[in-house]
Amino acid sequence: MSTSLAWDERYAAGGFQFGEAPNDYLRSQAWRFRPGMRAVVPGDGEGRNGVWLAAQGLAVTSLDWSPVGVAKAEALAASRGVRLDALVADVARWDWPAAAFDLAVWIYLHLPPADRAAACAGVARALRPGGLLVLECFTPAQQGRRSGGPKDPALLWSREVVEAEFPDFTILELTEGTVLLDEGPRHQGPAEVVRGVLRKPG
Ligand SMILES: C[S@@+](CC[C@H](N)C(=O)[O-])C[C@H]1O[C@@H](n2cnc3c(N)ncnc32)[C@H](O)[C@@H]1O
Repeated sequence: MSTSLAWDERYAAGGFQFGEAPNDYLRSQAWRFRPGMRAVVPGDGEGRNGVWLAAQGLAVTSLDWSPVGVAKAEALAASRGVRLDALVADVARWDWPAAAFDLAVWIYLHLPPADRAAACAGVARALRPGGLLVLECFTPAQQGRRSGGPKDPALLWSREVVEAEFPDFTILELTEGTVLLDEGPRHQGPAEVVRGVLRKPG
C-alpha cells in the first residue's frame, strides 16, 4: 500500500527519484502556458514539474503528502531561484479552493478509486471556468513492465477513467499508448500511459 511514509523513505534515499527535469509531456504543452497563470500540481513529489512551471513564470501551488518530498521541492525551487508554494497535503482530503487556478498538472499520481474521485472533484472545483488540466498516468497495459507505476491495478488510469472523473470537461487531446520514459531511476524504459489535456467548461 502506498503511504506518505513510504514516499518519505523513497525520497530520503537521495537523488531525485523521477529526475530534476519536468515530464516530457508537460513540457510539450508549454505553448499553452503564460506567465502569471496560477497552477496547482497535486502529487508533485520532489517538485520537478512545479519548479519547471514556476521557471516559466507561473504562480505554482505544489501539493504532496510526503514532507520529505515537499522539502526537496522547496530546495529545488530555491536552487533555481524561483518561488514555489509547496504544501504538505493529502490531495484526497485537502480543502480545494474554488476557481483558484488556471491550470492543474496531474503527472503520475495514482490513487485508490475513492481518493482519486475526491481529488479529481477537488481539481474540478479548483480550476476556474476554462481552466486546463494536463495529465499523464500509467494504464493497465503497464502491468508487467519495469518502468514504474503502482502494483495495484485499481490505481491505474485509462481513457475511460479520465472521461469518468472529468465528465463535463472538453477533451482537447487524449491518447493511450507506449512512450519511452527517461525520468530518474524510477521511470526508465518503454511505458504504457494515458496522457491528455482537458478544459473545464465555462
Ligand atoms: C509516482 S510519484 C510522482 C511524483 C511527481 N508527480 C513526478 O512526476 O515527479 C507520486 C507522488 O504522489 C504522492 N501522493 C500519493 N498519494 C498522495 C495523496 N493522497 N496526497 C498527496 N500526495 C500523494 C506521493 O507522495 C508521490 O510524491
